[in-house]
Amino acid sequence: MPGHKQAMVESCPLPTGRITVRHQIGYTFTMNSLCNKRVLLGITGGIAAYKSAELVRRLREQGAEVQVVMTHAACEFITPLTLQALSGKPVRTELFSTQAEAAMGHIELARWSDIILVAPATAHFIARLTYGFADDLLSTLCLATEAPIALAPAMNHQMWKNAATRANIRILEERGIRLLGPAAGDQACGESGPGRMLEPDQLATALAECFSSSRLQGLRILITAGPTQEAIDPVRYISNRSSGRMGYALCQAALEAGAEVSLVSGPVALEAPARARCHRVSTAMEMYQAVMDEAGHTDIFIAAAAVSDYRCIHSAQTKIKKSTDPLNLVLELNPDILASVAALPGAPFTVGFAAETDSLEEYAMDKMTRKRVDMIAANLVGEGKGFESLENALEVYWNGGSCSLHLDSKERIAHQLIELIAERFHEKNPDQGTEPAAG
Ligand code: PMT
Repeated sequence: MPGHKQAMVESCPLPTGRITVRHQIGYTFTMNSLCNKRVLLGITGGIAAYKSAELVRRLREQGAEVQVVMTHAACEFITPLTLQALSGKPVRTELFSTQAEAAMGHIELARWSDIILVAPATAHFIARLTYGFADDLLSTLCLATEAPIALAPAMNHQMWKNAATRANIRILEERGIRLLGPAAGDQACGESGPGRMLEPDQLATALAECFSSSRLQGLRILITAGPTQEAIDPVRYISNRSSGRMGYALCQAALEAGAEVSLVSGPVALEAPARARCHRVSTAMEMYQAVMDEAGHTDIFIAAAAVSDYRCIHSAQTKIKKSTDPLNLVLELNPDILASVAALPGAPFTVGFAAETDSLEEYAMDKMTRKRVDMIAANLVGEGKGFESLENALEVYWNGGSCSLHLDSKERIAHQLIELIAERFHEKNPDQGTEPAAG
């Protein structure tokens, strides 16, 4: 069908890049995890720079990867060596450094970050940002990035109240730059008033909120993740290479989008996100039971688990002894969890995965039709792809559209997929949950 794919791609409501998805995320409610987020911490030259050392620790405690970039003035207040020791990464200070640029060029660095936080942000830096200066590394990164930018202003209270600063702040806020603080109180200069930088733990919490949205607020999501294990005997089993990372990343992304999440997980070496309700299971039958117990009162079901299609009809009660005779295992089909949920009366919005080694689109479309699901996310697996890997790429299909999510970390892919799911869910159920925010 020539032209078919083209038409489907054009009907995709979201552009495919990670940055586009990030722009779809609003900033309206609380969440408190920076797990796997890449934070570029800009430090400018104010006395509050001493607090940035503690801030790096707080951000890392919340799971963020932190890359520090300092202005020359900041180095007058705190040494790059301190920040390097705390962040675990060489601190960047120079725009024109052949050595640093060879490791990660400034454009690459701007793309690397999920968010830029400038803390402290001096009145001078705020003015330079307002007027689009690009005369040092930090200001250049702020211009070159498509990531959100947050500022933690820190300055004397008269400077904060000055008409020039007020006007600059207004402009920056209109551009979508987020202000964290300042607080009011005693200042380093001995005076008192608004202009104190927020404390490091307040900043870490406020930054985590920047990643939250309300796209799935009030909705219940059920997610399966990981492999299942089908016993052959008490010590052996049939399983697969699923690590659970894709499903767990979806769980985190759904929580950040405001959903109440239940995770049904096969045996994996991952910790479930704290706010998820996690049921740990081993076999496909246990996973089926746990899912069916919840499916009736869930709004969205995402089947990211790699469920064993078969189990042994009779698993041995004692360890099977080695012998030179061929060993025959008789297998029977496990229930198809995804198809069973999709077939329920009043079924939730169902999202399946298709793990294929070839003919991705053909097999995925076939699964979507056969299992009667609303959306299918297809990934190539094998030879280091999909399973186990930290990264993934997805071709997502639904009735009348499709979208490519290009190779990226499973965390970022999960956020993009959750955005797509929210979009399709709200289109199908205009009266349920929060209305999608305007892009
Ligand atoms: O866990 P990771 O290492 O991060 O890897 C992620 C992943 C590759 C496992 C994941 O992205 C993925 O593709 N999951 C689905 C794997 C799979 O079993 O695909 P399938 O094409 O065999 O199954 C199709 C769909 O039916 C899947 O949504 C699956 O969960 C579901 N299914 C399959 C069999 C079964 N008995 N019950 C099911 O619900």
